[in-house]
Amino acid sequence: MLEFRQVEMVFRSGRSRKKAVYALRSVSLRLEEQEIFGLMGESGSGKSTLGRIALGLLAPSAGEICWDGTCWTRSMPKKVRLAIQGIFQNPYGAFNPRHKLAYALAEPLLKHRLVRSKEEREAAVRVMLRRVNIDEGCLDKYPSQLSGGQVQRLALARILLMQPRLIVADEPTTMLDLSIQAQVIRLLQTVQQETKTALLFISHDVPVVTALARRAGIMYGGRLVEVGLVDELIAQPRHPYTQVFLAAAREQTVPELQQGEQKEGCPYVVNCRQAGAECLSYAPPLRPVSGEHYVACYWAGQCK
Ligand SMILES: Nc1ncnc2c1ncn2[C@@H]1O[C@H](COP(=O)(O)OP(=O)(O)OP(=O)(O)O)[C@@H](O)[C@H]1O
Ligand SMILES: [Mg+2]
Repeated sequence: MLEFRQVEMVFRSGRSRKKAVYALRSVSLRLEEQEIFGLMGESGSGKSTLGRIALGLLAPSAGEICWDGTCWTRSMPKKVRLAIQGIFQNPYGAFNPRHKLAYALAEPLLKHRLVRSKEEREAAVRVMLRRVNIDEGCLDKYPSQLSGGQVQRLALARILLMQPRLIVADEPTTMLDLSIQAQVIRLLQTVQQETKTALLFISHDVPVVTALARRAGIMYGGRLVEVGLVDELIAQPRHPYTQVFLAAAREQTVPELQQGEQKEGCPYVVNCRQAGAECLSYAPPLRPVSGEHYVACYWAGQCK
């Protein structure tokens, strides 16, 4: 379905745009129809950048993106744009605070001419409200009059009205109360099962990704360092960074890693005990270790 081919993203800043942040480096990944894919990794590793590229909100600096075999390098075709929808950390950000929710939910249907009549539009909104367990009375309110959990469920309803084939959910529960987080995750899971929409779920939360996703990927320093079936990845992490990341998650700590700008080689080289000379010069590509399990490490699974 959606495929990233050697996608790179460089952000340039400063007066002469000399300062460069390499947010993504040669990321290749294929999302399958109807699957839930979990994307994890430390803060700043490039997860949101990949999510924004998937949504067409950012154009990659290099590489290709493909959807059902149609590929582009800069601008996402309009037709694809509608098929991929996103929900984000801040649910209120999805809505114009000056519009009542009735209008906010109807607007995309009108804009994209997805319904023919007012009756059809109102019926579609009603069905969707039921799906996300929100009372119809809320339509007469402004987003600020509702709780974060309610607004996130409405944000989900709004994108579902467009019948997307892929939803990018970028840490959709991080800003919600702990008690509400589980509710929203359950809803997302139910909706995914019912609609069979594929889901790119970006999260720091290993247990949530384990419960939700079929496959998962781990990012570090703008690179995808490991991809696999989630159970296999958790049981047998192969990349040294994945091992540290998962161990820290189990102990509910944050790994203490040295930051080093690694332009050419493996992004993890400054922290890696196994690194050899080749790791400094060339970033290892993702290579299969078994079935659907891929690792970007020359030494993964070997003793040195
Ligand atoms: N618009 C931008 N301009 C400049 N640099 C950016 C921009 N957006 C992201 N970056 C940088 O790109 C890198 C990757 O950022 P990104 O937001 O994708 O990380 P992330 O994995 O989503 O982190 P978090 O877990 O904190 O959300 C970071 O170094 C970040 O500072
Ligand atoms: Mg992010």
